[in-house]
Amino acid sequence: MPTAQSILAHTPDIATLEAVTSPVESDVVVVGIAATDADEGAPLVIAHGLDEATVSALAAAADAIGASTTVGSTTRIPAVEGVPGSSVVLVGLGSPDPEATDETLRRAAGAAARACRGLGTALVTLAADRPDAVALGAGLGSFRPAKVTEKDDDENSDADALRILTEGDATGAVARAATIAECVGLARDLVNTPPNLLFPGSFADRAAELATSAGLEVEVLDESALADGGYGGILAVGSGSSRPPRLVRLVHRGGEGRPTVALVGKGVTFDTGGISIKPAAGMEQMTMDMGGAAAVVATVILAARLELDLTVAATVPMAENMPSATAYRPGDVLTMYGGTTVEVQNTDAEGRLILADAIVRACEDSPSHLIDTATLTGAQMVALGKKTPGVMGTDDFRDRVAELSRTVGEGGWPMPLPEELRDGLDSEVADLTHVTPHRWGGMLSAGLFLSEFVAEGVEWAHVDVAGPAYNDGGPEGYLPRGGSGVPVRTMLAVLEDIAAQS
Ligand code: BES
Ligand code: MN
Ligand code: ZN
Repeated sequence: MPTAQSILAHTPDIATLEAVTSPVESDVVVVGIAATDADEGAPLVIAHGLDEATVSALAAAADAIGASTTVGSTTRIPAVEGVPGSSVVLVGLGSPDPEATDETLRRAAGAAARACRGLGTALVTLAADRPDAVALGAGLGSFRPAKVTEKDDDENSDADALRILTEGDATGAVARAATIAECVGLARDLVNTPPNLLFPGSFADRAAELATSAGLEVEVLDESALADGGYGGILAVGSGSSRPPRLVRLVHRGGEGRPTVALVGKGVTFDTGGISIKPAAGMEQMTMDMGGAAAVVATVILAARLELDLTVAATVPMAENMPSATAYRPGDVLTMYGGTTVEVQNTDAEGRLILADAIVRACEDSPSHLIDTATLTGAQMVALGKKTPGVMGTDDFRDRVAELSRTVGEGGWPMPLPEELRDGLDSEVADLTHVTPHRWGGMLSAGLFLSEFVAEGVEWAHVDVAGPAYNDGGPEGYLPRGGSGVPVRTMLAVLEDIAAQS
């Protein structure tokens, strides 16, 4: 467990994943249970590698205690004769017909992994023919949020291993799942790191260190480099804080002639609102306002670790939005990177200002595609709730990103950028203002503002994850409390799709 000093250096606490092809003796065995058609009597036990008598005994045991078959419900019972372990975790798979989707398997495996935490070795017998979904769900679900403590933690999960029982050799699939789960875990840990410890300077240092180890090209612009470069948006938002802003650039280089995809993520390490200060109630959650940046840093590292054959260039602006005598104010006119002037209406609409600078910089690399992601607007949650990212951008790419997001279980949904809202961004005193004079379509007008900074011809998607980046409820399926790591897996799916099609 990390100490207060070392929490930023902490590696994600995730169980070891192994692929096995026979039911090796373990401390605990995970089996699936599903409702039968009649929805009465013993549930259907779905366990690979266990014989018929054992399966019937497990079904009888599950029936006797009325174990829930709801997807992701878990019930731990003592082992019955024939089980290669001392206890069994029964995990609900819902109804088996039609066949469980990948997302059902991921959720069930994730909940089971959480139930197995601290129990030693676990044999996971769910869906032996679909190791990708089972291993990824298990890896994501085994994640344990880091705690800031100087005390020794005896509840060490290092010894935990999840053995994914598969038909045939699935070593590659399981290793890939582990790598994805680690990088999602990295994004989650960064989001969960409290704002006194994670601020622009420490975030940039940590991102640079991780990226260097992963073999990426790294460049960090500090406040004087930002001033020399004319990054007016990042500088303004960071100006109220004693801890100056940064712009981090991380590049994973694909082969010669391969496409370049730009990733941009909002890294507001704490959002007080600035001079347009937020109400005190709930402000502590604004430690997650760097969720987009965390996801982008994790994704470019993941691209390197999976050796994706394309160039991925991450541009990550980091700032702390504080009120002070040096803070920027409503009424200021900023000159953004690239020269566009912006009239500030509300210092709490800071995310779009740092993103605008970063998007202009990212477009200088002539990417074919650009994805930006941000905990950008409360309006995202009003429109779509806490778990559905809003995806805006150029029509085709927006739809492709949203669709891939749903495939991986992150749930992105396409949203428009209505022309009628654009007038609200006209300013009397500058090229643009960053907030409309009314509150309608707040997620969309933020997207429209960003669209002004995307270079002509770049296929662009903007993913607003204000709700989805952070789970303030209890853990469920493979989703822990706190940072979720969304939309790392959406961006990975898009990168792999682009790499496959070009
Ligand atoms: N970081 C917030 C958005 C947010 C709110 C994320 C709640 C997660 C949970 C963002 O910087 C913000 O304050 N947006 C304002 C914009 C408004 C001033 C135009 C908002 O949504 O209220
Ligand atoms: Mn804000
Ligand atoms: Zn913010």
